[in-house]
Amino acid sequence: MTEISDVQQQRESALVQRVVASFAGAPDARTRELVEALTRHVHGFLRETRLTEDEWKRTIDFLTAVGHITDDRRQEFILLSDVLGASMQTITINNAARANATEATVFGPFFVEGSPEVGLGGDVAGGAAGEPCWVEGTVTGTDGRPVPGARVEVWEADADGLYDVQYGDDRVTGRGHLHADDEGRYRLWAVTPTPYPIPDDGPVGELLRATGRDPMRAAHLHLMVQAAGYRTLVTHVFPRHDPYLESDSVFGVRDSLIVDVQQQLPNTATPDGRDVTGPWARISFDLVLAPAT
Ligand code: BEZ
Ligand code: FE
Repeated sequence: MTEISDVQQQRESALVQRVVASFAGAPDARTRELVEALTRHVHGFLRETRLTEDEWKRTIDFLTAVGHITDDRRQEFILLSDVLGASMQTITINNAARANATEATVFGPFFVEGSPEVGLGGDVAGGAAGEPCWVEGTVTGTDGRPVPGARVEVWEADADGLYDVQYGDDRVTGRGHLHADDEGRYRLWAVTPTPYPIPDDGPVGELLRATGRDPMRAAHLHLMVQAAGYRTLVTHVFPRHDPYLESDSVFGVRDSLIVDVQQQLPNTATPDGRDVTGPWARISFDLVLAPAT
């Protein structure tokens, strides 16, 4: 690359300083801090890469396409944030390790308010395709004390790699909630999590293909746990030995969230006496909530 003359460097940095200074009158100090830093980083990117005018136009076209495909049901900007690791970085910054509390990970776009209450030991699968999977554990605080009545919400894709909302009909499958018992124990039937691709038929999918990246998410079950006096936990459990643990397309995997899935042979007795004809599986995962600050 050709050397950038001192005069050119000074012109470029003078422009950055002028733009930063233009925000000096922002009445809100935090807004000012954010737009100043954004200006410095965007200009830093432009200058470091010596971005061409054609590349800038393509960048604008890309962001325009991200906006056009976004509507009430599809949020391509969040998907972009996810594949760039920006969602996970924001979670990492805001969920610094709190004692032995369960680690948080991405929320994802497939949570739906108002899931059915399935009750302790109930079935969140609701007819979703997949191998039955018994999930159980305790909800405690970081002090080890149980959290009776904690609300445990679960949602997951089916064995065909789709969430109920992706089918375009009114089915409600692969989601539900229940409340932990007096000892903070929870238990439910779900389906064994399997890997699936994030929606890749839009500009984010094009970005992944152009950069040789795989849209697959490591298999997971989403959990959200809420209880008065505790910080709401949004997390996943990831089955060990999943082929995508190292390459999860949204960088959501944390070692502490990887669990052993115990495969059960057909006709093995189930914990609640449910009649399961084929093979089934079980997962044990304890949830530890940080205190609300
Ligand atoms: C999910 O796990 O549901 C998800 C997370 C980020 C992007 C797409 C899907
Ligand atoms: Fe998911």
